[in-house]
Amino acid sequence: MKILDKINEPVSKVRPYQPGRPIEDVARDFGLNPDEIVKIASNESVLGVSPKAQKALIECVSNLHRYPDAGAWELRDKLSKKMNLEPDQFIFGAGSNEILVFLAQVFLGPGKAVVASAHAFVIYKILTAMMGGDFIEVPVKAGLQHDLDAMAKAITPETSLVFVCNPNNPTGTLISQEEIDNFMEQVPDDVLVVFDEAYAEICLGEMPDTLSFVKKGKTCIVLRTFSKAYGLAGIRIGYGMASAELVSELNKPRQPFNANLAAQNMAVAALDDDEFLQDSIEAYRSAKQYYEQLCNELELEFIPSYANFVLIKTGNGGDIAQKLMALGVIVRPLQPYLLDDWIRVSFGTAEENQAFGSAIKQLRQSNDV
Ligand SMILES: Cc1ncc(COP(=O)(O)O)c(C=O)c1O
Repeated sequence: MKILDKINEPVSKVRPYQPGRPIEDVARDFGLNPDEIVKIASNESVLGVSPKAQKALIECVSNLHRYPDAGAWELRDKLSKKMNLEPDQFIFGAGSNEILVFLAQVFLGPGKAVVASAHAFVIYKILTAMMGGDFIEVPVKAGLQHDLDAMAKAITPETSLVFVCNPNNPTGTLISQEEIDNFMEQVPDDVLVVFDEAYAEICLGEMPDTLSFVKKGKTCIVLRTFSKAYGLAGIRIGYGMASAELVSELNKPRQPFNANLAAQNMAVAALDDDEFLQDSIEAYRSAKQYYEQLCNELELEFIPSYANFVLIKTGNGGDIAQKLMALGVIVRPLQPYLLDDWIRVSFGTAEENQAFGSAIKQLRQSNDV
């Protein structure tokens, strides 16, 4: 097709994001019963959708002929009280992913550079490539930890954005307050630090306070989402917190109704669902213990995780993920993260985790792992 010669050059080189495979796809491919398939591949909520959010969805259904509030005022107001920020310090997106897109559209292009850790959320690399920018990937420290000192040193006059993913997907590692404080002292103020905190509310360790940098007027943005902690991945709602000046620039590429009506209502209700949040954290703590014991028993290396998933070294992750799928367990292979020997397993219910345990033991018996 001749039109393909006219594709924007950076876009033509992009390798698209590979999401976790849906249950129905896997059932079709492997001739399995979808009801018997366990999907622990996308770090989704272990307890499903927050019940308060579900109720809010039902209540707003008859209003869905209306456009949503383009300013998301109710949600903005609620979050601004919760976070102690001004209402104009929030930007909303169809998932925090959309805010990553705004950041790329506003700050990246040919001649501009991004600094990020190796093995960090792969969307940073994809968006940088899409905009024709340079992606500077900084090697990790022992234990696949972000090396913030090396990241600070990798900053050049061309750097626009630095991504700090904490806890990091897919490694589950957590950066301490001290490391972040030291890092922020080294970053020049013409570089925007993006704290991507998709797992903050369910963090299984001590989550550093990065909002204090927003409050002090540092050049940074903190991204959060309702996808993980509140189980709203399917409705798409996330937000960013930064200075009002920065938010107003990021709002320029944002389309007026990007945060849909149902998502806004569900998010407002979810913020009151403390019980759901606490129960989820409890389930993740038990799951973490289960997986760590399982890995120790099978002598499989793993990275201690502070989020709702764990990275396990099985050797040949692509092949193992495929074999697990044939046994009805969907996990994530990590070739796009250059972690070919690893798989990422999301924390599921006790039953789902045990299904993984049985499947991996079966692969051990056949000498696959
Ligand atoms: C680190 C990180 N950031 C951002 C996202 C995007 O999440 P969402 O767009 O659902 O808010 C994810 C999703 O997996 C993630 O792991």
